Amino acid sequence: MATPRMAAAAPALRTLNEFAADVVVGLSHPGQKELPSKYLYDTVGSGLFDVICTLPEYGLSRAGMRMLERYSGEIIDQVPGPVMVAELGSGSGQQTRWVLEALARRQRVNYYPIDISRSALFRCQQELGQMDMVSIVGFERAYLDGLQEVATRRSGGERLLVLFLGSTIGNFDRFAGDQFLREVRTILQKDDALLLTTDLEKPIPTLIFAYDDPAGVTAAFNKNLLARINRELDGDFDLGHFKHVVCYDESERRIEMHLQSTIWQRVTIRKAGFRFYMREGETIWTESSHKYNPAEVAEMGERAGYKCAGQWFDHEWPLAQNLFFAV
Ligand code: TRP
Repeated sequence: MATPRMAAAAPALRTLNEFAADVVVGLSHPGQKELPSKYLYDTVGSGLFDVICTLPEYGLSRAGMRMLERYSGEIIDQVPGPVMVAELGSGSGQQTRWVLEALARRQRVNYYPIDISRSALFRCQQELGQMDMVSIVGFERAYLDGLQEVATRRSGGERLLVLFLGSTIGNFDRFAGDQFLREVRTILQKDDALLLTTDLEKPIPTLIFAYDDPAGVTAAFNKNLLARINRELDGDFDLGHFKHVVCYDESERRIEMHLQSTIWQRVTIRKAGFRFYMREGETIWTESSHKYNPAEVAEMGERAGYKCAGQWFDHEWPLAQNLFFAV
């Protein structure tokens, strides 16, 4: 990404074909229909997500922010320089400011946000672009591709600090989360650092409200996935006949977000050449958010080739910032 332009360009054909193929695979799943959650974040979805972060019921990002404001100095002190920073999923960049500020007190910082959402990168650049001592180069790429490219920019003796904030790891299944940390590890060198945010287990009603807020912002965020299919792939989903449904699976310890069809209906997605049916009450599974306990996070990192150098907690909204080093 050079400087991202304001106007949302029409998605490239390859991206569109990939989107269409993923949608067809997910909606053809026997049993449970599903859609990959990464498609929640187009320009509209990213904007709605920013609003979610301001909701009183959704404490996760505020807790993350509070903790980085309070502990970034301490965390950065544990990561001796020189350091370059890569972030997986830049989001709007608000939380990252504290980390970059702490680091910029001791060195010039090259910061590389990686995000598949161009609008997220754009907002990140707006939020952080004016910081003294910090230069930003964004990558509009999938996490691992982007990280690989960032790693080639390392100059001798420089340590890479990877930020994976906001408990995005929780949106992977536990097995895939392990696998993902291992893949990140293969791109890193020994003693590179990973700062990982993980949302912790908490009372179920608190979690349900966090993902099903009374103002309906999260419902809009979820339904926007169908609206996006209508916009980009010429679908005919009738959003009035879908309901945002949230449940907590106690054995998997995760929140699940679904879109439930309120009637029997037929849906056509013209650009994917695909037509399918939904029964009344049938759902499309769009997102999971796994919850952890602190010990299992440390173990997860250790299984993937890291050692845990510290964990910091927020007690108002149980959340952990975990610092790992590649071994
Ligand atoms: N990773 C965060 C979480 O699990 C952000 C997130 C992903 C989210 N999908 C979401 C927040 C859907 C609200 C709704 O909470």
